[in-house]
Amino acid sequence: MENWIDVGSVDEFSATSLKRVTVMNREFAFSYKDGTFGVLSNTCNHAGGPLGKGRLDGEYIVCPWHNWKFHRCSGKGEPGFEDDCVPAYSVKVENGHVLIDLNSATKRHKKPHPPHPLARKVERAPGPLRLAVPQLRWTATIHVSPALIICSITLSRRLANSRLRPGSSG
Ligand code: FES
Repeated sequence: MENWIDVGSVDEFSATSLKRVTVMNREFAFSYKDGTFGVLSNTCNHAGGPLGKGRLDGEYIVCPWHNWKFHRCSGKGEPGFEDDCVPAYSVKVENGHVLIDLNSATKRHKKPHPPHPLARKVERAPGPLRLAVPQLRWTATIHVSPALIICSITLSRRLANSRLRPGSSG
């Protein structure tokens, strides 16, 4: 059964291309482009980043945390990763107001990824206590901007995506 909720005026929602909106204690990523609205769950598939705080790249919302992309209307992942999709909602305009159907959410689907190597179970090996001195030295001597730190899943997606782009040699 449909459950249309009036979330505000068209003027208010068309003033910005992307924003996070809370409706009935649920968070959404509202986008507006070329006269059409898109509504997705605000929660990114990767690590829960706030999609409504990201940016638009064409028809895709780019997550602000590690740059995964989801189609702003369908919720599907970028080309090559369509199986990774976040819930998308039906949206319409009536009498100058934007309405979304809270019961229209499409299914979230996370494409299976191999676990990160650091996600292994930590087990105490027999023998005396040891310190991870090489890691400490590495941490102390290499200065990396947080913006440059990405996980292996994100890196592999970017590498795969660069192979899919026409004219890319990567
Ligand atoms: S949380 Fe969105 S890309 Fe990592």
